[in-house]
Amino acid sequence: MNVTRARVAGVGHYLPQRVVENAEFERTLDTSDEWIRSRSGIERRHFAAEGESTSDLAVAAASAALADAGFEAGDIDAIIVATSTPDLTFPSAATMVQAKLGMTGGFAFDVQAVCAGFVFALTTANALILSGQAKRILVIGAETFSRIMDWSDRSTCVLFGDGAGALVLEAADGTGSTEDRGILSSDLNSDGRHREILYVDGGVSTQSTGHLRMEGKEVFRHAVDKLASTAHRALDMAGLASDDVDWIVPHQANLRIIRATALKMGMGLDRVVVTVQDHGNTSAASIPLALSVGKARGQIKTGDLLVTEAIGGGLAWGAVVLRW
Ligand code: UT7
Repeated sequence: MNVTRARVAGVGHYLPQRVVENAEFERTLDTSDEWIRSRSGIERRHFAAEGESTSDLAVAAASAALADAGFEAGDIDAIIVATSTPDLTFPSAATMVQAKLGMTGGFAFDVQAVCAGFVFALTTANALILSGQAKRILVIGAETFSRIMDWSDRSTCVLFGDGAGALVLEAADGTGSTEDRGILSSDLNSDGRHREILYVDGGVSTQSTGHLRMEGKEVFRHAVDKLASTAHRALDMAGLASDDVDWIVPHQANLRIIRATALKMGMGLDRVVVTVQDHGNTSAASIPLALSVGKARGQIKTGDLLVTEAIGGGLAWGAVVLRW
């Protein structure tokens, strides 16, 4: 059976130049490198420079992904940016990226599902490709979470970082089997009743920017439970099982969550792409960053079966199964 698949044609990422080691926080907060490392697995993160915005990070990642695919910006017909930290209230970060790349056609929009944003954006891009509305889509995750940190709150400000990652997805012919390269299935979820455990206490309608607030323990509890089940549902949908998976490419929030989720899926860390130690939690950017770094490290190879999974504010969570 001939089917259309949304296949990965290129990947790239960008990290701001400034690297902040855990020890830097010891100067201003009652915290330690040892606490941050042991509770989260984070060792360092990147922070955007003054004047460097989310769309700047996104453009750099997108340019790297285009180069990897061997495409020009004019070859692309849509851009989706997953972000909760856009440059402005509007226009979308995606239209800013479109203009900065010199694209004059196609369409561009943002998706906001916080740390699960990239999984929601990938699923949206897949639907646009399968319905024939676009043939080549840049799917970008880009964030400047350093701009919404409360620097006096040690329970959150040591955990997050800035960065961007991008994929070029392209329509390709498939056979309908699980051997096809491209997106094979996805599972999306949200439950707005859990709003109070992870949110920003400001926004346009309250005429402020606000700061990120999190009940870490509660989010942790939901994460381990929901991430393994969404990954299993997505695999079931594709007619696959954990044993078929080459790499889990998880949202990078906490090494303990990453390890516990892999364990629930019957897998060890040797089959997980882990970047949290170097990037911290970059929200919607974390999965495309991990995909790009995983490929550069030689972990992810053509034909490998990947499961991406993420959870974040909302709560919103989901998983995508794709063959690279
Ligand atoms: O990306 C969106 C999804 N987000 C996540 O997945 C994050 C989920 N949660 C987590 O990653 C973890 O819950 C944290 C890393 C945030 C915290 O780890 P924890 O093991 O759940 O620690 P805790 O919140 O229970 O805090 C333990 C102790 C507390 O002190 P007491 O009450 O036991 O005396 C905190 O006050 O650690 C204290 N603490 C700190 N100590 C040193 C909290 N933050 C710090 C800190 N340095 N930075």
